[in-house]
Amino acid sequence: MKRIVIGADHGGYHLKEFLKERLGDEGYLLEDVGVLEFKDVDYPDIAFKAAEKVSRGEAEGGILICGTGIGMCNAASLVEGVIAALCTNEYMARMSRLHNAANVLCLGGRVVGPELAWSIVKEWLQTEPLNDEKRIRRRGKIEKYRKEKG
Ligand code: RB5
Repeated sequence: MKRIVIGADHGGYHLKEFLKERLGDEGYLLEDVGVLEFKDVDYPDIAFKAAEKVSRGEAEGGILICGTGIGMCNAASLVEGVIAALCTNEYMARMSRLHNAANVLCLGGRVVGPELAWSIVKEWLQTEPLNDEKRIRRRGKIEKYRKEKG
């Protein structure tokens, strides 16, 4: 993953700014879809903007942050082709890539501190999905359900 879209509401704004600096230092190409200053905004607006970019292939991955990460994860999961994962530790981050092929990482700005968040992000970015028959079949069932009944 090289091109990353990042977004946050007011609950995740400060963590977003911290992670942007770290990711920039590591050479990632970042697109920030807001919020661009600390102010009250609706997390679904940010989540849909970022998730649609991932869905269209304009970014390989997305990072979305709200207070808990839950709202961002709920909203991003509705977008076709997006697998969003709320992670609170490195193990979840690794497994969300290996087993779920998550392409959007959700974090809680009021849940994890900046250094733990950075550690989660690094683990997530460095792990590639397992693409064996079993994992592809399981992920395919989710996408099929969303397309047909979502
Ligand atoms: C906003 O106060 C808060 O509800 C939001 O950041 C998020 O945690 C929602 O899931």
